[in-house]
Amino acid sequence: MLIDSHAHLDDKRFDKDRDDIISDLKKDDVDIVINPGADFLSSVKAVSLSEKYENIYAAVGIHPHDAKTMDDETINVLRDLTKKGKVVAIGEIGLDYHYDNSPRDIQQQRFREQIKLAKELKLPIIVHDRDAHKDTFDIISEELDENLTGVIHSFSASTEMAKKYIDMGFYISFSGPITFKNAKQPKEVAKEIPLEHILIETDSPYLTPEPHRGKRNQPVNVRYVAGKIAELKGIKFEEVAKVTAENTKRLFNIK
Ligand code: NI
Repeated sequence: MLIDSHAHLDDKRFDKDRDDIISDLKKDDVDIVINPGADFLSSVKAVSLSEKYENIYAAVGIHPHDAKTMDDETINVLRDLTKKGKVVAIGEIGLDYHYDNSPRDIQQQRFREQIKLAKELKLPIIVHDRDAHKDTFDIISEELDENLTGVIHSFSASTEMAKKYIDMGFYISFSGPITFKNAKQPKEVAKEIPLEHILIETDSPYLTPEPHRGKRNQPVNVRYVAGKIAELKGIKFEEVAKVTAENTKRLFNIK
């Protein structure tokens, strides 16, 4: 059985067939899906999915794109949300200097505030880092203490940086791009770091892996990410599935 550690099943692109997709997960050999929030509304939706379905777990958080929508009350609202449903993390949070949808200083401030909330609640963080490798790493390093852990989702930085995160107790998650022909970096990272620190994900409905690139992504496709890692490491698919599932349960404290 596989775990998809990051999928946005609350997305409106699943409005027509969400129930079918979730009830087919077992048949598709997907045991559990972690559904992070991206803004306030999607965090609420993620929590209600986790209340409705036993195989869905939620994270709540404000994505860097929407950092500018946060005010001083937002942290309290997020804290209240963590008390509902099966919330296992704060996320996805982080920095996005590719789109710069929110000013960078606001992104950094809100990222830090949400990290502090995670530490207060002893919840791991799910981190989004796009073209902001150094600042993301610096903020996490500065905030690091015994209550902070998490995963860098859809990892796109260097092997050297992956190893530094692992030294800090963090996990590295791979998604569809690892299956793309031209994606050298994530392939190299996956080969070099221990399986015991790897998570796999789809980031559905985005980042659809080969051979389905171009179509809407869904959790069943996490198998292609697992398959690619098995191939890169020269190990069995079943071992990748088993160990990444154990890693996910350990990180998110899922029994
Ligand atoms: Ni995402």
